[in-house]
This record gives sequence, structure tokens and C-alpha cells, in this order.
Amino acid sequence: MKTLLNLITAEMEQAFQAADYDPSYAKVTLSNRPDLCEYQCNGAMAAAKAYKKAPIMIANDVVEHLKGCECFETAEAVNPGFINLKVSPAYVAAYLNEMAQDPALGVEKEVNPKTIMVDYGGPNVAKPLHVGHLRSAIIGESVKRIARLKGNKVIGDIHLGDWGYQMGLIITELQKRQPELPYFDENFAGEYPEEAPFTIGELEEIYPTASAYAKEHEEYREKALQATYLLQNGHRGYRAIWKHIMHVSVEDLKKNYQNLNVEFDLWKGEADAQKYIPDMVEMLKEKGFAHYDEGALVVDVQEETDKKEVPPCMILKSDGAALYDTTDLATLVEREELYQPDEVIYVVDKRQELHFVQVFRCAKKTGIVRPDVDLKFLGFGTMNGKDGKPFKTREGGVMRLENLIREINEEMLKKITDNRTVSEEEAKKTAQTVGLAAIKYGDLSNQASKDYVFDVDRFTSFEGNTGPYILYTIVRIKSILNKYVESGASLDGLSICEAGSGFEKALMLETAKFNDMIDTVYEETAPHKICAYIYDTANAFNKFYHETKILTEEDEKKRAGYIALLKLTKEVLETCIDLLGFEAPERM
Ligand code: ARG
Repeated sequence: MKTLLNLITAEMEQAFQAADYDPSYAKVTLSNRPDLCEYQCNGAMAAAKAYKKAPIMIANDVVEHLKGCECFETAEAVNPGFINLKVSPAYVAAYLNEMAQDPALGVEKEVNPKTIMVDYGGPNVAKPLHVGHLRSAIIGESVKRIARLKGNKVIGDIHLGDWGYQMGLIITELQKRQPELPYFDENFAGEYPEEAPFTIGELEEIYPTASAYAKEHEEYREKALQATYLLQNGHRGYRAIWKHIMHVSVEDLKKNYQNLNVEFDLWKGEADAQKYIPDMVEMLKEKGFAHYDEGALVVDVQEETDKKEVPPCMILKSDGAALYDTTDLATLVEREELYQPDEVIYVVDKRQELHFVQVFRCAKKTGIVRPDVDLKFLGFGTMNGKDGKPFKTREGGVMRLENLIREINEEMLKKITDNRTVSEEEAKKTAQTVGLAAIKYGDLSNQASKDYVFDVDRFTSFEGNTGPYILYTIVRIKSILNKYVESGASLDGLSICEAGSGFEKALMLETAKFNDMIDTVYEETAPHKICAYIYDTANAFNKFYHETKILTEEDEKKRAGYIALLKLTKEVLETCIDLLGFEAPERM
């Protein structure tokens, strides 16, 4: 369906044309004076110069041609030349009824769907997930769902950090503790055990212990680096340990991401890209893109228009080791080979921006990706505590994601149990659902690139611009619809009526904005605008609800019209929260 704004703009264009003005001046926007009108057109002001006429005269001419247009209730020219518009109630009602009939609720799919890869999550294997990984998971999941709703083929890739020094550390610590294991016997030629020599709990203890020890002990550090090198160069025993580490961690990661309602299509990682490195390096050398600089192999990516220095992309260290740049470039080689994406969106901490500038430039200039591939960096800000510093535990340590989620759920459970009496089990489940909404909405309601304060008290509140408030609103609508059905009526075949009050019309106009909002959110990769929209819509609904007798309305047709509007509003809100990656419970 065309958006309401487009339909109104088309009417306005016709009127400009009919009055002999260029229709390009007919731009309509939402009103910035909602007390006066719903939409407005300032085109007469812009046209005044070209036509050497007072803006109000142009506005008057245009308004003259809007008479009889079924889409406006009023169209007024006001000084010095604005055109103030109110949409006709019948027109809005018809629009909403058409929207209610459409399974996509009026959202149009891309005419030429793209293949879009979203690189998000990015956890490092064997290190526990912490809050730093939360934002990437939450934002990336939403970006993926939005692009998918618009009809694109979207592939979410977790891009595990599974090839680095942390692996060497674990191998070294394991050897220290259990030297008798066959992985460390250079003469061992048999099959390695299928069972890992550690559990996830042990692994999570081994890594920080090794990491701390290596910082203090040079010899141990050297050993871990050597182990990393041997692993990356195919040491049989270390490869077997690596597989165990992967297996045990990935299983744990899957559980964690599932709790977050985050789902990846691909569980690939840095290790998968390694096999593309030798040919890529060969190509970079052969075609003259790479040169040696103090022993390291680099590709220059500085551009003339740069105001700051952009250092070269590092392909190989002087000892021949691959680096972060190398891995991301090789991953692009792999993606080109396997998926040919039109677009790759990286959802990563904004402090890594320079790295991606280097990688993108290098990939483009060397032809690793086709010239028209859109490489996008969606950098996010830091999640801070109330003290304005990066979020920590009360004791000042790194907050593990699991613990953060537990804390929120406990807080939610308290609030829910305070409010009413439901079974322990149901309350727990509801607390989880609402808790997740609190976290995700708290995060997504901020523009991704900004730092924000993670405030448990505020995020879990049922009032204000929060996830729980949105869910509470949806639950309220569900309860009204259920009561309507319980009274013996059906939710099918109802139609939305012309608004009978300002509150009703305000809700109708909000609901009607849905497809327009989605298009903007998609074009700008801006999930926070969904939050702003559902907050406005929830407010519009709650005002309408407080001012209107819905179920006790005596006029049957009117009552059915209210219910039809509520049903559509609920569908819109539920689609929105699904795009944000959470859902509403039945009761709360
Ligand atoms: N594992 C990395 C980290 O924790 C994030 C990976 C981001 N994605 C990428 N393609 N580099 O910092």
C-alpha cells in the first residue's frame, strides 16, 4: 500500500499542477503544530521566489483546487503562506480498513530484493559473554528483522572470534594442568577422545586464569603465542583441542542467544576465513596492491580528501602472522564466493570504526568485493552504568550477560508479584518475557551510535518510555479484545468507523503511519525510530482508552468499530515489537 503521506502528497501535487505551479513544490510533512492541523505543506513559501508572487497567493490558488478532494476534511491557506491540512475521517477509516485486510499491514516489499548479510554478535569463543556483546546482538537482530520484513534475503552471521590468542592461552593452561593428555604427545598418532577434557564451567575458569598468568609471566606468554601459531598452522593435537573448545562454547553460546531471542543463520567465525588468506595474499601481491613496510605486508588506503591519517591495512605481520584486518578481508572473500551479498552491515562497537574504514577501502580498491557492494558500518556506543562509566557489577568487575539478565528478571518478578496473584510458574515466565523487553527496549530506544545509561530501575518501570509500558499497553488491548469475544461477538469482519472524537482520530492517524515509519527505519537502519513510534502509538491508545467507553458503548456498530481499530493497533504494535526482538505475554 502507498503510505498515507504519499497519497496526500499526490493530491497536493495535482492541486499545484492544476493551479499552474510546479508540482515539485507540493511536499507534505507531518504538522509541527498538531494543535492547528495534522499535515502541512510549505511549498507555497518555496515557490514564491520562482513565481515572484506572495506565498499566500500561491497557497490560496492551490487550496482552491483542493476543494472537493475527498482526502481532506479541511485545507486552509494561512499567513504567510502555509497550507494546513486535516485528513477526512472517512478517508483515514478507509485507509485503515484496507490496511487491516493486508497481511503485511500496508508495508510494501522491495521491488528488487537484495541479499543482505548482517555481521553481528561477534562473541569471542571461550570468553564469557558480557554486556559489551549485548548491544551488537540486540541491534543486529533488529536490523536483520527489519530488512527481512521489507522482503530482502537476509543472512545473519555471528562471526565468532574463534581464532585468536585466547585459544593459545587455553591450550597452554591445559597442558600445564594435564600434560598427560594425548593432544600434547607429539608422537601420538591415534584417534583423539571424543569427549572434551573440560566443561563450559571449567573453560570459563581456565581462560581468565591463563590470561592473568600470562600477563605476569613472560615465558608462559611466549608459550601461549607459540601455541596460537602452531594451532593456526595445523598442529594436529591443538586442532583437536580447538574443536573441543568450539563445541563446548558454541553450545553454551546458543543457549545464551536463545534466551535473548537472537537467532543466527550462520555460525561462522574467523577460523572459517583462514583458508582464503593464502590466495588473497598472493593476489594482493601479484596485482601490486600490497607492499612491504618495515617487514609487514600492507595495502595503502589513505585518500586525498582525508583530513586525518588513515593508516594502511595490515595484511601480514613481519613474522607472517595474519591480523584482524586480514581476517575481515578474507571473510569478505568467503562471502563473495558463497553468498554474493549486495550489502554487508557490520554491527560493531563504534570504537572499531577505523578498522572498518581500512577494511572497506581495501576490499573495494583491490576488487575483493564487486564495486557495487554496499559495505556498511553500524557502530554502536557504550552501555554505561548510572555513574556514566562503562557498565560494571556492583563490585566493579565485568558484568556477565547472564547475571545482568538474572538481575533484571528478579526485579521484574518482584514487580509482577507485587501487583497481583498469579501462579509462581506463570509469574516467572512473564517476568522473563517482560525482562527481555525491558533490556531490549532500553537499548534500542537510543540511537545506536550514542552511549547510553543502563538504568535497571527506569528500564523495568511500567510507566514512561519503557518496554514494560509498551507490553502493558498491548496486554490491555488483548484483554479488551478477549472480553469482546467472551461476550459472544467475533473479531472477524469488523470495520473501522469514522472517528467520533479527537482521541480516536489521533490513534487512527498514529496507526496509519505504520508503513511510512517502517520505510524510514529501513532506509536509515534506525530501529530507535520504531521505539519512538510505538511509544507515541501506545500513548495515543491509552488516551483514547481513558476517554472512551469501549465495551459499554451502546451503538453496536460504533463498538465494533472501536474493536476493529484496537485489533489493528494491536497487530501494528506486535509487529513492531517483533522487529525489536521481543514479544508480549498474555497477562501481566
Ligand atoms: N569479536 C570481535 C570483538 O569482540 C567483534 C567482531 C566484529 N565483527 C567483525 N567482522 N570484525 O571485538
